Amino acid sequence: MDASPQVDWVRGEHLSLHGSNPQGLWMAPGRVNVIGEHTDYNNGFVLPFALENAVFVGASLRSDDRVVVSSRQLGTSSFDLDDLARATGRLSHAESAIQQAMEECHTFGGMNLVVDSSIPIGSGLSSSAAFVCALILAATDVTGNSLSPETIARAARRAESEGVGVPVGVMDPMVSMCAKAEHAIFLDCHTLDIEHIPFRVSVGDSPEVIVIDTRTPRRLVGGEYADRRRVCNNAAVALGVESLRDASLEKLAAKRDRLSDEEFHRARHVITENSRVVSAVKAMRDDDFEALGELLSESHHSLADDFEVSIPELDVAAEAAVDAGTYGARMTGAGFGGCAIALVPPDLTRQVESAVTAAFRERDFEPPGFLPAKPSAGAHRID
Ligand code: GLA
Repeated sequence: MDASPQVDWVRGEHLSLHGSNPQGLWMAPGRVNVIGEHTDYNNGFVLPFALENAVFVGASLRSDDRVVVSSRQLGTSSFDLDDLARATGRLSHAESAIQQAMEECHTFGGMNLVVDSSIPIGSGLSSSAAFVCALILAATDVTGNSLSPETIARAARRAESEGVGVPVGVMDPMVSMCAKAEHAIFLDCHTLDIEHIPFRVSVGDSPEVIVIDTRTPRRLVGGEYADRRRVCNNAAVALGVESLRDASLEKLAAKRDRLSDEEFHRARHVITENSRVVSAVKAMRDDDFEALGELLSESHHSLADDFEVSIPELDVAAEAAVDAGTYGARMTGAGFGGCAIALVPPDLTRQVESAVTAAFRERDFEPPGFLPAKPSAGAHRID
C-alpha cells in the first residue's frame, strides 16, 4: 500500500494549521492475528502480524504547554499538560496516550500532532491501539526521548485500559510496535518474549492472506469482552492455576466438577488455542500452509462453539472461504463482528472473494469488504 496519501495529508494539514512543516513523521500499523485469540489476557500465546494500513502522525513542538491533536478521522482536540497530569476519570484516546507519554519522559512539553489513518475503524484491525502507539511514539520522539518499542507498547496498553477504560490485552500494541516485514510475531504474553517467524504471504506467487470485513459493527464487544475475561479468571482460580496459560486438558478433565459449564468451555478454548498457536508456529516455519490452514479453521470452531464470540456473518465468511478452496479461515480479533481472515492458495483470491460475496448475498447480509494483508513493518519514524 502506498502511504503517501496519508503522509501528504498530514504534511499539508500541519502546514495549513500551524504554518510550518512537521518536525518529524511517524507511523504505527494495525494488525491481524493469524491465530491465538482471547489468549493474550490469559498470559498465553499469540501469532499476529502488522498490516500495511497504519496511523500516520506529523508532530512539532510548541512554546506553550498545550497539546493540539488534529485527526482526519476523529476531529481536533486540545488540552493543557498540567490539567492532563492531574486528570482522573475517563480520558479520550489522545489524552490518555499523551498522559502515558508524559509519564515515561524526562523532558516533555506542548506539541501539535496531526494524524491520518488508513486502518478501517471499528473493524477489529486494531485501529485504536495503532492510534495510541503512533501518538506515544511521536510525542516521546519529538521531545527528544528514546523509548524502546516494548516500553511504548506497555504504555499504550495502559493508555487504553486505565485511561480510556477498555480492558484490552497486550497483543495489539506489541505487534504494532515490534512487527517486522515478512514476519509474524510469536509473542508470549506472559514474558513478552518475541520470536519473529518468517511468513512470506501476499508477495509474488506465494499464498495470500485476505481479510474479509463483514462490515458488521462490533456489537456488545465491551461488555462481552470483559465478561470473557472474568469467566477465564474464575476458571483459572477453580483450576488452581495463576492463569489459564498454566492449565492443561488433563487438569481441566480432572477438575471438571469444580467448574461451571461456561467456565469449562471458555477454559477449553484457551487451552486448545494456546497449543494451536505453538503448532501454527511450526507450520509457518515449515511453510506448511495446509497444516496452518487446518489450525485456522479449528480455531474458528473453538471460538464459535467454546468461546461463543462469533456471529453468523463471521461463520458464513469462514465457511464460504473454506468451501471455495482456501487452506483455512477464521474470525480474527475479539469477535462479535469485524473481520475474518483466510489463507488462500496462489491465484485463488478472486474466486474466494466471489464465493464469500455470493454467500453473503444469499443470506441478505451487507456485502463484505476485502483487504489484502501483507506482513509489514512495525511502528517507526518515517521522516
Ligand atoms: C481484542 C483485544 C486483544 C485481544 C483480542 C482477542 O482485539 O484488544 O488484546 O484480547 O481482542 O484475542
